[in-house]
Amino acid sequence: MQTKILTVSRESGGFDALQEPAQCIAEGGLVVFPTETVYGLGADGLNEQAVRSIFAAKERPADNPLILHICEQEQLADLTSDIPESAKKAARHFWPGPFTMVLPKSAQVPDVVTGGLSSVAVRFPDHPIARELIRRGGKIIAAPSANRSGRPSPTTAAHCIDDLMGRVHWIIDGGPCEVGLESTVVSFTGRVPKILRPGAVTADELGALLGEVELDSAVVGPMGEHAVASSPGMKYKHYAPLAKVILVKADRNEYIHFVNSQTKPGSFALCFDEERKEIKIPSLGYGKESDGAAQARELFGCLRELDKQNAQTVFAHCPNLQGVGLAVYNRLLRAAAFDVITL
Ligand code: TXA
Ligand code: MG
Repeated sequence: MQTKILTVSRESGGFDALQEPAQCIAEGGLVVFPTETVYGLGADGLNEQAVRSIFAAKERPADNPLILHICEQEQLADLTSDIPESAKKAARHFWPGPFTMVLPKSAQVPDVVTGGLSSVAVRFPDHPIARELIRRGGKIIAAPSANRSGRPSPTTAAHCIDDLMGRVHWIIDGGPCEVGLESTVVSFTGRVPKILRPGAVTADELGALLGEVELDSAVVGPMGEHAVASSPGMKYKHYAPLAKVILVKADRNEYIHFVNSQTKPGSFALCFDEERKEIKIPSLGYGKESDGAAQARELFGCLRELDKQNAQTVFAHCPNLQGVGLAVYNRLLRAAAFDVITL
């Protein structure tokens, strides 16, 4: 398949060039587009055949369900069969934004979207290009992150080109994503709202708005071999560069001393920016220690860069778990396949 690349400036406001990719979605095609979290691989979410082609392009397991993207609050009602008060409140507060709600699905939503689950995930993104694409195509867009399955999510169009060139009809380049990690996923199917995947909308913010929130045990730990995943995406190895990643829990001095004693060729430090000057092995900074937002923005790009630089073993300095740091930790833990060293 021939992939067309379109560059759109999100500031210019001149979105007429989006007409063609929007039409492509309406006709069942595949379009990669920017959102504020990561790039998405979109197709008409209510067209079974189109949704199947998303799974094929990504080589994604069929039991890992997709998020449906809307461009108006009112579109939620058609996709769901019951919206509890807490979900209505959360939608008013966090939408548009990096926030996804899991709710009981309506009959309109094809089973291929939800991997056979009776619930559906819905998000209203806060990115003008994403919203304009949904509006112009007149379709609800199903979109997973626009990476090949298992690879780090893409935060620039170049990442999407690396993974999906020749597999999609369009790639829309809207520049780097501001958040850099995927949306916070919260299930409203139980009595208490439950965070299935942490993101830029934090547990504290959710707690402050909703009173009670739970954290799914898979957020900070591995799934037991026989456990049933509340979010099927949690059970797959994720976000992994080709290198072996080891997450190192240590204070600054211990970490620097530890990585400086690594003599094997191909060893890399994935550290805080301010640590680099003291590190003697090859290193990449993924943001300042105190800046969780920068770490979120940089992390996936760094994981891809490590492959480009042929890293074999990566010692990643564990982030602070406060605020968005929990999401950074959750992704690093999966990139490391739960291999953690505590010094
Ligand atoms: O920021 C984002 O959420 C990006 C952009 C493109 O919107 N999308 C994204 O999609 O990250 P994806 O497919 O890579 O991740 C969706 C996650 C998966 O972990 C999946 O298992 C979970 O959401 N999910 C989807 N539907 C679900 C459902 N009905 N119940 C539980 N988890 C669900
Ligand atoms: Mg993904």
